[in-house]
Amino acid sequence: MEKRKLVELLEDMSMEEKIGQLLQLTGSYFMEDAVLTGPEAEIGVTDQEIACCGSVLSVHGAKELRKIQDRIMKSQPHHIPALFMLDVIHGFRTIFPVPIGQGCTFHPELVKEGASISAKETAVSGVHITFSPMSDLCRDARWGRVMEGTGEDKYLNGVYTKAMVEGYQGKDVKAPYKVGACVKHFAAYGLPEGGREYNTVEVSNRTLFEDYLPAYKEGVKAGAVSVMTSFNTLDRIPSTANRRLMRDVLRDNMGFDGVLISDYGAVMELVNHGIAEDGKEAAKLAINAGVDIEMMSRSYVANLKELIVSGEVEQSVLNEAVMRVLTLKNQLGLFEHPYKDASEEGEQAYILCKEHREAARKCAEESLVLLENDGILPLKKQGQHIAFIGPYVDNKELYGAWALMADGKDAKALSEIVPLLYPNNGYWFEHACNIVPKDSLLSGLASTLETKYTEEEEARAMERAVETAAAADIVVLMMGEHRLQTGEAAAVGDITLPKKQLELLERIAKVNENIVTVLFNGRPLDIREVKEKSSAVLEAWFPGTEGAYAVADTLFGTSNPSGRLSMSFPYCVGQVPVHYDEFATGRPKETEEVENKFCSRYEDIPNAPLYPFGYGLSYADFTYEYRRISKEQLKISKQDDFIEASVTVTNHSDVVGMEVVQLYIQDVKGSVVRPVKELKGFQKICLEPQESKTVTFCITEKMLRFYDINMEYKSEPGEFRIYIGHDSTQSNGLAFHLTK
Ligand code: BGC
Repeated sequence: MEKRKLVELLEDMSMEEKIGQLLQLTGSYFMEDAVLTGPEAEIGVTDQEIACCGSVLSVHGAKELRKIQDRIMKSQPHHIPALFMLDVIHGFRTIFPVPIGQGCTFHPELVKEGASISAKETAVSGVHITFSPMSDLCRDARWGRVMEGTGEDKYLNGVYTKAMVEGYQGKDVKAPYKVGACVKHFAAYGLPEGGREYNTVEVSNRTLFEDYLPAYKEGVKAGAVSVMTSFNTLDRIPSTANRRLMRDVLRDNMGFDGVLISDYGAVMELVNHGIAEDGKEAAKLAINAGVDIEMMSRSYVANLKELIVSGEVEQSVLNEAVMRVLTLKNQLGLFEHPYKDASEEGEQAYILCKEHREAARKCAEESLVLLENDGILPLKKQGQHIAFIGPYVDNKELYGAWALMADGKDAKALSEIVPLLYPNNGYWFEHACNIVPKDSLLSGLASTLETKYTEEEEARAMERAVETAAAADIVVLMMGEHRLQTGEAAAVGDITLPKKQLELLERIAKVNENIVTVLFNGRPLDIREVKEKSSAVLEAWFPGTEGAYAVADTLFGTSNPSGRLSMSFPYCVGQVPVHYDEFATGRPKETEEVENKFCSRYEDIPNAPLYPFGYGLSYADFTYEYRRISKEQLKISKQDDFIEASVTVTNHSDVVGMEVVQLYIQDVKGSVVRPVKELKGFQKICLEPQESKTVTFCITEKMLRFYDINMEYKSEPGEFRIYIGHDSTQSNGLAFHLTK
C-alpha cells in the first residue's frame, strides 16, 4: 500500500480503532468457542476491544491463523489485518541449539542460516514476527535467561544479533518465508541484581553505552522491524516508561523507526514498580515514552481515549504509534496478502524437512565445546564395552525452555542412535536417576514435570548403573540441568548440577576411572567435581532436534569439536558475574600464588574462571606461530589507515579440525580505565592434517574507539597491544601505537 493510502486509512480510523491497533493479546481470545481462564480472563478485555485488536501473540498453524485473520478482518471496521507474533527463539519445530550454544559456534553464517530456516517454518505456520533475537549481554550464570543470549561479549553478541536479524528478515521482510525480528529486551535486561529474574538493574551510563547497548544497536542497524522493552529498571526508571532511553537513545541516537512493543504485561507492571498509580498513569507513561504496542495488559485500551481527551497525551503521540504499527503491517505486505506465507502445504513441505534437520545438526555439532580430554576421546569405534549412564541417555527432549513448538517425537535419543551408527562396540544404557527430584518446583513455561522414577526405583536404578559402570571399559555420563531450570523465571542461587546426579558421578568414579561426561545445560555451571572426576568433559548445552546425532558423532570422532565458550564458566557461584574483559584494578593480582594479600583477590578461590571465554579443545592439535603486525603505527589523521595482524596456524594432528582464531586488543592507557582486553575479531578456519594457514586481521582506528572521559565515542592516541590466540587468556601481545 502506498504511504498516502496509509495516511488516509489512519485519518479515517476512529479513536477506538486506533487504540485497538496498539493492543496485543494471546491467541486464546480469538479461538472458536474460546473459554478464558487465569490471567487471560483477569485482564478483562471487552468484545469490542477484541474486535479491534491489532496483533496476536503465541499462536501458530496455517489453518488456525487464516481463520483468526479472517475473523479479525471481519470484525475490524476497516478490515485491517492482524500481526501474528511468536517466540521462535532457536527454531520453530526444527530446534537448533539454545542461543548460548549457538554463541559457542563462533560461526555467524551458520547462525544466520538457522534463523532463516526458523523464519521459513514460522512463516508457513502463519506467523509474521518472532520475538528474537535476545541481544542482552549476560555475565551472571545465576540468571536463567543466559540460555537465550549468545554470551558475555559485546562484540560477539552484536555479530550474532546482526546474523539473526538478517536470517529472519532477509533483504525484504515482505519476501516469501521471511519474518520480522524483534530485538529484545531493551535495555540491559541481562544485568539483574544478584542474577534474580525481573530484578533491578544498576549500571553506570558509560558501561551501559559501552557494553550493553552495542548489540541492540547492531540489530537496529541490520533493520530489525521491532524492538521489545525490558522488564527491569535502569537508573531507577522501568524501561517501559523510560522516555530518554526509548526516544532519545533508541529512536534518535540509534535511528530505530520500527515498532516498539512492551514486554508481557510490562505496562501494567509500572504500577507494581511504584511509578504509576494505576493503569491510566501507566498508559500515559508508556505511550509518552514511545511504547507502541502494549503486550497483554489493557491499560492503553482502557485509558488512552480519556488521556487524549484530557490532553494528557497528545493526539499526535497516538497517531505516531498507530502509524508505526500500520507501516509494519504494510512492510510485511499484509494489506495485500493478509495470510502472508501461511500454508498447510508449506507446513507439510518445510517443517522438519531434511535440509532443516541437516542444518540443525551442523549447528549442534559446532556448538559443542570440549572442555577436558586426556586422550580418552574420541571413543574407539570397535572392541569396547561402553556404558552410557545418566538421565540424558534416553532423553529425546534435548531442548531448552523456549522451544515452544518442539516435540520429543521429532528427535532421537542417544541410546537409539549409537548402536546403529557405531555397531561394533558393546553398549549398555542406564537412565540411573531423575534429572531433578520428582517434587522439584520448576516454574517455567510448562507446568508439569515428568520424572521416570519413584524414590525406591531410583535407588535400584542407581545401584544397577554403578554395577554396569564397574563392568564397562568406559563410562559416558550424560547429565545436566532440567530444561526448565533455565529460561525465563529460572534464576538460581546454586549453579551446581542436581544433587542426585553428583551422587551418581561420585559413585561411578569409585568403580571406573574412565569417565567421559557430557553436559546438557542452559547456563555455565560450577563443574569442579565433574572436571576432577572425568577424563573428558563435553559441554553439549541443549543441542536441539538433532542434538543426539551431534553428540554421538562428536564422541566417536566423526565430528571434531569446534565450539568455544561464549561465556566463562565460573569457578563457583561466588565469582559471578565474571567476564574476561574485566578492568585493570589499582592492585592487580599478578600470580595465583599469594604473594601479596592486599591485592584484588579472594581468600578462598582463584580469580580466574574454571574455563575462560573463547576456550575449547579439539581432537586436532593447533599451534600458533609467527604472530606479526604489518607496522607499528596507525595514524588517526590518515583516512583508511590500517595495520594487518597475522598469525600462522598449523594443524599438527592427523585429523581435520576447525579452529577459532581470536583477536583481542588492549588499550594500554586511556582517559578512563580500559578493559584488560577486548575481542575485536575472529575467524573460524578449517585445517586439513598437517596444513598451515595464515590468518590476517585488519585493524583500523574505528575498532579502538570507546566512550572517553567526556562520554565522547572516539579513540585516544597511545599504546595498544594485540593478542591473537585460541582463547581469551592469550598473553604476549604485539604492541603498536595510535598517533595523531
Ligand atoms: C518474555 C519475552 C517474550 C514474551 C512473549 C515475556 O515474558 O520476557 O521475552 O517474548 O514473554 O512471550
